Amino acid sequence: MSFPENFVWGAAAASYQIEGNTGEGTGVTSIWDEFCRQPDIIFDKSSGAVACDHFHRYADDVQLMVALGLKAYRLSFSWARIMPDGENVSEPGMAFYDKLIDELLAGHITPYVTLYHWDMPHALQLKGGYLNREIVRYFEKYVEAVAKRFSQRVKHWVTVNEPINYICCGYWTGSHAPGWKLPIRDVLHGWHHALLCHGAAVKILRRYGDAGTQIGAAITGWGYIPADENNSADIEAARRKNFECEKFRSIAGWADPMIFGAYPDSWYKFWGKDTPKVDPADMKMIAQKLDYFGTNIYFAHTCRATGDGRMELVNPPINTPRSAANWPITPAAMRWLPTFYFERYKLPVIILENGICDAEFPDREGRVHDACRVNHMHLYLGELRKAIESGVDIRGYFHWSLLDNFEWIEGYTRRFGLIHVDHKTQKRTPKDSAQVYREIIRSNGAIVAGESGMAGERGA
Ligand code: NOJ
Repeated sequence: MSFPENFVWGAAAASYQIEGNTGEGTGVTSIWDEFCRQPDIIFDKSSGAVACDHFHRYADDVQLMVALGLKAYRLSFSWARIMPDGENVSEPGMAFYDKLIDELLAGHITPYVTLYHWDMPHALQLKGGYLNREIVRYFEKYVEAVAKRFSQRVKHWVTVNEPINYICCGYWTGSHAPGWKLPIRDVLHGWHHALLCHGAAVKILRRYGDAGTQIGAAITGWGYIPADENNSADIEAARRKNFECEKFRSIAGWADPMIFGAYPDSWYKFWGKDTPKVDPADMKMIAQKLDYFGTNIYFAHTCRATGDGRMELVNPPINTPRSAANWPITPAAMRWLPTFYFERYKLPVIILENGICDAEFPDREGRVHDACRVNHMHLYLGELRKAIESGVDIRGYFHWSLLDNFEWIEGYTRRFGLIHVDHKTQKRTPKDSAQVYREIIRSNGAIVAGESGMAGERGA
């Protein structure tokens, strides 16, 4: 069996990571512009001020997507570009996305638009950002403006991207913008407000949408896979661990409220008296009907049953390869996690991000032979296919990322792109993986090798 008919093959990127034309002198200031200004925050002392200059090069970039044969492209709208002061629409900001969306549609590429991929207007951070419940009203204003303008042309929406990161890393550990390190009680209020923003966005998008409108979110948490796939106790341990809240790790702390309208019991148990008082009307607002379960999957932790009803983490097997970011390469995550999510949430699954950070750079002929990414793609997609074969309803896969880009606090030192970007000249070079992905798309996944044999595979 191959991938289902109409399977959505895409690639993904996000505004602050590729657009540029933000920060000083542009009239656009997001929390990431501000965060990057702080000394010694970004590994290579860079920022997204120029990034891949996609703001000016978007038309050529869309042509690269057309050459790749992409069926869909996941982009994000920058809240800060569209509403720099958090209150009023900037016409030039809107106009940029107008042109980009039109270009995509002209290239027969379906846009999947993320409303929040981390670049909140700095003006709203000054009002407290997610700590201030008023953020929901500001977000509604922004979403309303976007829905009014785009709902005829954009039918696929991702409300928010990885709230776990912008809330927990943004307000607790301080490793993401705005870089605040607050008591957990405050962070949990931010958590709740972020969920309210999601629910409010779905309501507005539905109002402007039609029967073809598809709405979801990009939800993540730490993922767990069984140590021994033939041991049902290990499988059960992994299943449970995925949805058990401890610290900020579990996906259930986000997905349960969005889908079931309630925080998991383990969330209350873990956070105890620090949890906010939750009004049932809020939970109703958060739990809007979703059309798909969107998730970003890179790797998973391995866990096993201990025999006395507990579960424990085990080290990944020796020889587990690692990416240039030192993330373990665990293709089985691509089978187990969508399986567990589908069982629990009963929604079709879309993989909104998956990919690898590699260290390849152009050779003397200017080619980028990223064998590692090619290998990774075959392995992960092979596991995704197995999940589909076992009955999991998976509708699409978006490769992260289209271009090498600004990888948050790592700056430009981590390359996830199918297309290499020289960050000095902005030259784009499709890597071998881009050619391979094109063939995968063209064959609707029939050439995905899975575990068996990618030896010596190279792009055309
Ligand atoms: C998840 C985030 O959504 C994206 O912005 C980031 O670049 C990738 N993971 C890789 O770390």
